[in-house]
Amino acid sequence: MYSPAVIEHFTNPRNVGYIEDATVAIQYGEPSCGDCLLVFLKIEEDTVREMKYKVLGCAAAIATASITSEMVTGRTVDEALELTEEQVAKALGGLPPDKMHCSNLAVGALKAALRVYLSRLEQAAEENS
Ligand code: FES
Repeated sequence: MYSPAVIEHFTNPRNVGYIEDATVAIQYGEPSCGDCLLVFLKIEEDTVREMKYKVLGCAAAIATASITSEMVTGRTVDEALELTEEQVAKALGGLPPDKMHCSNLAVGALKAALRVYLSRLEQAAEENS
């Protein structure tokens, strides 16, 4: 049984879509079920200004992507990296035990995108040194 917050985010997901001029965009999959997410981040001045996504997955995957996009907006990159699956699930009023892995999809995609961003910064710094 899903919480009212999960149902609300699933039926009215926030920030669905693409960012044309995204700072970073990646595809990320959850190996345990095959669901996947395209995630787009707009990062300016070390802060996540916007997260958009397209998700191919279950109701919990859609709800967790939706609330993750809200929770990460306005965080610095370091703060965004501290976001956990447990925090996302808690913000949704919890997830059924067999759906906890669904919160990994959005948070995992977010962190993978942030790592791509940071590795590009490191590479650019090395090239300029
Ligand atoms: Fe795969 Fe939910 S069943 S993310």
